[in-house]
Amino acid sequence: MRHTVQLDVHLTEADAERALREDAREGLRAMPKHLPPKWFYDARGSALFEQITQLPEYYPTRTEAALLAAAVDEVARISGAHTLVELGSGSSTKTRLLLDAFTRTGTLRTYVPQDVSESALRLAMDALAPDYPGLALHGVVGDFTRHLDLLPAGGSRRMVAFLGGTIGNLVPAEQRAFLSGLRAVLDPGEHLLLGVGLVVPEDVVVPAYDDAAGVTAEFNRNVLHVLNRELGADFDVDAFVHVAFWDPRNEWIEMRLRATRPMTVHLQALDLTVRFAEGEELRTEISAKFRTEGVRELLAGTGFTLTRWWTDADERFGLALATAT
Ligand code: SAH
Ligand code: AVI
Repeated sequence: MRHTVQLDVHLTEADAERALREDAREGLRAMPKHLPPKWFYDARGSALFEQITQLPEYYPTRTEAALLAAAVDEVARISGAHTLVELGSGSSTKTRLLLDAFTRTGTLRTYVPQDVSESALRLAMDALAPDYPGLALHGVVGDFTRHLDLLPAGGSRRMVAFLGGTIGNLVPAEQRAFLSGLRAVLDPGEHLLLGVGLVVPEDVVVPAYDDAAGVTAEFNRNVLHVLNRELGADFDVDAFVHVAFWDPRNEWIEMRLRATRPMTVHLQALDLTVRFAEGEELRTEISAKFRTEGVRELLAGTGFTLTRWWTDADERFGLALATAT
């Protein structure tokens, strides 16, 4: 018997447009120039990310999937969740491992995928619905840095999954604000399942963000296509090259777009003209990597205890089950 399928929009197109304008106005006038990574993910960007997850160099997805496969039964048993909320859920592919484990334990009633990308969310829900007929699917188009308070209430039996290492796309102060905000909407005893990329040698991490086939470069440049379309900008996208830079002090990898010649770009919707010097870089993403102690401290400082911790033999990725204290 088919359960309910519902989609709530907490981030309307008008809200997203306003937020994009603010981020572009602020980030393109700053020195150095920067943009938040959430703007990669229009339909094309979400599809490119899915291609990235299949690349031989991009180890995070398959490493996390293997950790999940080993951990899900324990996660389902410990959490006993009735509602699984997933933030930045994308294609929800790895989530199937969790949903299958909850099918075995029988507690889960509702899955709530939340993503800024409505296209990714719709595709994911359409793919899940026939395979999980007993599960209510309640998708939410929203921004996990702004709309956590609008997530469904759960009566102390919710688990929030935040997978893929996406927390690393926030700078440390944002990570703390995000986790504190999440803790504020959870009840004591509810759970968080958090996937984090770990610090690995530079010759492992850099190729993962600068693959030989050039898919990550295309994903990176996609943000310029988004600005051209949404803000009437005239970026010459091919005049920017993809850069992946490992910052050993901050232990994060940065993606940047480097201008190959001097350029003047006009953004019609903002009535803004932006100049790039030859070689000037626009930072489009950081992807912070963690150490076990850092994860424990981050969780403890934001109202969670680390209940279980899984990592692979090469220590490339970590999966934390945390409990709201
Ligand atoms: N969790 C999936 C997808 C990771 S890609 C996995 O592990 O493979 C990151 C996902 O987060 C994308 O689907 C993107 O659209 C979404 N995202 C990025 N920033 C977001 C934000 N601020 N709020 C909600 N979703 C966001
Ligand atoms: C979604 N996020 C965790 C990915 C990452 O690895 O930081 C996005 C990505 N950027 C380049 N490749 C993949």
